[in-house]
Amino acid sequence: MRVNNGLPLLAAVAGYSLIPSVKAWGAAGHEIVATIAQIHLHPTVLPKLCAILNFTSINPHEPQCHLAPIAAWADRVRYLSQYRWTAPLHYVEGKDDYPSEKCAFPGERGWVNGPGKNLLAAIRNMTGTLEDWDGGAEEIGSPTNEALKFLVHFYGDLHMPLHLAGRARGGNGIKVLFDGRLTNLHSLWDGLLIAQRIRTLPRNYTLPLPFPEIEYNLRGTIYDPYVRRLMWEGIMGRWKDDIQTWVSCPTSDNTSSGGVWQTVMSLFKTNIAAQTDDNIICPYAWAKPINELNCDFIFPKALDQPPYNQQLSVDSDSQSAHLIPEAEVDLVDPNGRFRAGSKSGGDGPYLELDTPEYAGKIRNELVVEKLLAQGGIRLAGVLNWLFADLEENDARGGLWVQGV
Ligand SMILES: *[C@@H]1O[C@H](CO)[C@@H](O)[C@H](O)[C@H]1NC(C)=O
Ligand SMILES: *[C@@H]1O[C@H](CO)[C@@H](O)[C@H](O)[C@H]1NC(C)=O
Ligand SMILES: *[C@@H]1O[C@H](CO)[C@@H](O)[C@H](O)[C@H]1NC(C)=O
Ligand SMILES: *[C@@H]1O[C@H](CO)[C@@H](O)[C@H](O)[C@H]1NC(C)=O
Repeated sequence: MRVNNGLPLLAAVAGYSLIPSVKAWGAAGHEIVATIAQIHLHPTVLPKLCAILNFTSINPHEPQCHLAPIAAWADRVRYLSQYRWTAPLHYVEGKDDYPSEKCAFPGERGWVNGPGKNLLAAIRNMTGTLEDWDGGAEEIGSPTNEALKFLVHFYGDLHMPLHLAGRARGGNGIKVLFDGRLTNLHSLWDGLLIAQRIRTLPRNYTLPLPFPEIEYNLRGTIYDPYVRRLMWEGIMGRWKDDIQTWVSCPTSDNTSSGGVWQTVMSLFKTNIAAQTDDNIICPYAWAKPINELNCDFIFPKALDQPPYNQQLSVDSDSQSAHLIPEAEVDLVDPNGRFRAGSKSGGDGPYLELDTPEYAGKIRNELVVEKLLAQGGIRLAGVLNWLFADLEENDARGGLWVQGV
């Protein structure tokens, strides 16, 4: 039920008027995925999600329930001792993965952390927990409540290519420049690219679109215009005919052609996929082409050539993989300037990525937008599949989303 609460948009804007820090931009990616998902929910689904989220006690001042406010919860708690075990669930790394030279997903030696402790397994697990929901009220912190918060978050992580990269803690250990500022590859993709896109949007997206199904799900945030553009130019535009393929699982590998070797390889792959994938949700099959983007262009080949290959010794601390201390996340201040005296300064040189060949290509091809859209659409698909009350003559078998 997407009820317009009648609040003027400006009143909602007031709550979000502070310029968020760089860390909060990381949250923006997750919130955008959640917002896209919410736009595509069956009308019977959001009230159930609100019951599971115990929304009234999350924010008694916000009259309408939204998924976006809980989308980054999993990142906020991962440093707390009782949630530390969840840190490896935010990513999945093949032991042999080393983009751009080799994208191994997972390759012959399997996953870092083993088969059960990664993003793909976590998505399977949280989906299973939600399938078992008894339909009753949930308290904050109940297994079902937390499974939903994790699931919303993990669909964002699944569509962030560096959360699928086995090299240098998902690019955290690879320092680069963006517009002259020192950052790292992971942070660039987590936030800076999105931030740049939001800053440079055409002005026409500050106006509401003539689609209440979209506008009711926006909350007056700084990224609303970006969501409008992503919907208008992407989901309702150039990707319109692809949406159904995004929510379907490819049929099992073809074994009929290609001889014995291909049969062996496909059995192996099917085996890996079988740990998490079925005909309804297939996080492995969805993630695999996203992992390949790391080899296609996300890890520039120049990183492995002089003079930029000097800093590669910081790689592969798999124990602390992807676990960046808060302090390091904050390396760039809200004005984007590198903080003097912090440990990453000094050496170099570093590769500049705010170039036409890198950031420009990503911008022109709507790479980030497409990933966010796919994350949102797939999240909506699984939530509809789990929770939609359908008419008897409308028993849909797989994942599907509400159109706008
Ligand atoms: C999820 O993982 C937990 C902890 O490993 C396990 O106890 C639980 O049975 C799993 N649930 C599902 C539905 O897979
Ligand atoms: C929220 O949790 C409280 C108990 O902590 C419960 O009494 C209440 O019914 C829950 N609300 C919803 C909307 O589920
Ligand atoms: C906004 O402007 C861009 C061109 O700058 C155009 O392609 C797009 O269709 C416009 N969007 C809407 C909703 O009018
Ligand atoms: C299997 O083969 C058919 C026919 O050659 C092709 O259309 C389909 O895309 C293939 N599927 C996969 C998963 O490769």
